[in-house]
Amino acid sequence: MTPSHLLVSPPKPFSTPTSLFLPPEQAVVPQRYVWAAARFWMETEGLKSRRYGGKSRHHWYALLYAMKSFQWFLKLVGGYERGERNAAELACSEIELAFADLPQAFDGFQILHLSDLHLDGNQGLVERILALLDGREVDLCVLTGDYRTELHGPIRETMDGLRTIVSGVRSRHGFLGILGNHDDCHMVAPMEEMGIRMLINESVQIQRQGQRLQFIGTDDVHYYYTEQALHALEAARDAWSVALVHSPELYDVAARMGAALYLCGHTHGGQVCLPGGLPIITHLNRGRGFFRGVWSYRGMQGVTNVGAGTSGIPVRFNTQGEIVILTLRRKAAAA
Ligand SMILES: [Fe+2]
Repeated sequence: MTPSHLLVSPPKPFSTPTSLFLPPEQAVVPQRYVWAAARFWMETEGLKSRRYGGKSRHHWYALLYAMKSFQWFLKLVGGYERGERNAAELACSEIELAFADLPQAFDGFQILHLSDLHLDGNQGLVERILALLDGREVDLCVLTGDYRTELHGPIRETMDGLRTIVSGVRSRHGFLGILGNHDDCHMVAPMEEMGIRMLINESVQIQRQGQRLQFIGTDDVHYYYTEQALHALEAARDAWSVALVHSPELYDVAARMGAALYLCGHTHGGQVCLPGGLPIITHLNRGRGFFRGVWSYRGMQGVTNVGAGTSGIPVRFNTQGEIVILTLRRKAAAA
């Protein structure tokens, strides 16, 4: 796999009269450039782009102020430290999913799924993740976005934490990553330099014994929806596919395109929940029923990772942060 570096490679010359709408290898303007221009504009304008059209300002900072007020309330009533202790208790969730049509060569394939690390707001998280893995080797590590909490500004602290994770995790087929709504387009180049193959509305295939497992990664669609995300998922028709999307909000499209598995995060499982794990906020426009755990939709299975970190304030109530180790199994044919 040769990583391509966003905003590093020189643009191809506009020498021949041709169209953007060509197969990726023939396009005069690489699709990543089209994506980066749209993403950068939305980021700098603080915009949220919706699936069925229309753009509006996102309300992250209003929400952040509300969370800071909640933080003061917790400190006042003495619950803040308990929330911090809850947030520091990270679990390793082992999940096994069986599929009748999984290519035989991938029976037992193990995927480490990390999501919502928010490394700039969760001191000690990198060490906790590596301690939990304790040197265990997996087939592949996928990262489904939200590497930091801030939406703007410096990224070095976050990238340094991520680099330590990549150095410490043992993954036979390496690392795949997508961006979340807290990440900005400038993270792509440093992440690829540290060995993470970023999927920006793109797909890659892993081959074993002539059989293929495909991973399709989209950009975040909670804030930064573009049609490119939808078109990327169409590749699911070509091979047995895993969709990597930051939030569950493309569940219906992925299922319609034929993805077998959908891995996402974003919701933190509610992060601050009522007793029984009932979420107050899921941060979802669609697919609210898929805010946590294992689910299925029209033959496609999905996992919404509760996330390893926290966002806004470093507390959890009635939820526990997790890293997920997912084992793919081929379902035995009925006798
Ligand atoms: Fe998110």
